[in-house]
Amino acid sequence: MQAGKIFLLTGAGISAESGLSTFRDKGGLWEQYNIEEVASLRGYEANPSKVLEFYNLRRNSHGDVKPNAAHFALAELEAAWAPRGGEITLCTQNIDNLHERAGSRRVIHMHGELGKVRCHDCGDITAADGDLSLALGCAACGRIGGLRPHVVWFGEAPLEMDAIFEALAGADLFVSTATSGAVYRAAGFVAAARSAGIPTMEINLEPSDNAGLFDLARYGKASEAVPAWVAEMIKLAG
Ligand code: APR
Ligand code: ZN
Repeated sequence: MQAGKIFLLTGAGISAESGLSTFRDKGGLWEQYNIEEVASLRGYEANPSKVLEFYNLRRNSHGDVKPNAAHFALAELEAAWAPRGGEITLCTQNIDNLHERAGSRRVIHMHGELGKVRCHDCGDITAADGDLSLALGCAACGRIGGLRPHVVWFGEAPLEMDAIFEALAGADLFVSTATSGAVYRAAGFVAAARSAGIPTMEINLEPSDNAGLFDLARYGKASEAVPAWVAEMIKLAG
C-alpha cells in the first residue's frame, strides 16, 4: 500500500486516558462549568478574572499528566510515514500539549494552546508558565491586564483554517478520533472530505454525533484502538 496523505483530527477523548476531562462525557467540563461564562469572549469581557481562574485550574491540572499510547501511536505513524513518501497532518481540537510531548512534530491546534497567552490589545502570543492574572503586562505593548489564554472561545474563529482545508483537500484518507463531532468547524471536516471523494473513518469510544457520515468506524478506547490501527497501517505500508 502506498503511504499517502492522511488527515487526522483528534478531540478530547484522546487525552481522557491521560487523566484530562473531556467536555461532554458524564462529569465532563461542561457539566461543571457554564460555557458562556468561562469559554466565550462575552464571558471574558464580563468577568476576566473568572475566565483566567478557569484556565489556571486547567493549566495546573495539565501539569502532571502524560501522553498515553494513542498519542505515541500517532507520533509513530508520522515518523513512519515520511520515509515512505507519505504525509500526516495532525489537527487537534485539544489545547493540551500531549501530542507534542509524545513526539508529533507537526500539530495544528485549531482551538489554540493552553500553554500560551495572547494580548487582548496587540495580539502578541507568548508562552506563559505561571498563573494568568490581570496584574500581568504584555511584553510587546506593555498593556497591563490584557493577557488572555491563547484559546479559541465559542463564537471565535478557529485557527489555521486555510492550512487545515488545504491539507484536508489533498488527503487520501480522513481519520477522526476521540471527538463527539458536536462542534463546528471540526465537525464539518468529514462532510468536506466526503464531498472531495476522500475515504473517511472514525475511531472513537462510541459513535459520534456525525457517525453516519463515516465510511468506516472502529470503536474502543483510544489507547487501544488507535495503536492497533497505526500498527495495521504501518504493516500495510511495508
Ligand atoms: N477513547 C476514545 N474516545 C473517547 C474516550 C477514550 N478513552 N473517552 C471519551 N471519548 C470520546 C467520547 O465518546 C466523545 O465522543 O471522546 C469524545 C469527547 O467529546 P467531547 O467531550 O465533546 O470533546 P471534543 O469532541 O473534543 O469537543 C470539541 O468542544 O467544547 C469544545 O473546544 C472544545 O475542543 C472542544 C470541542
Ligand atoms: Zn500587547
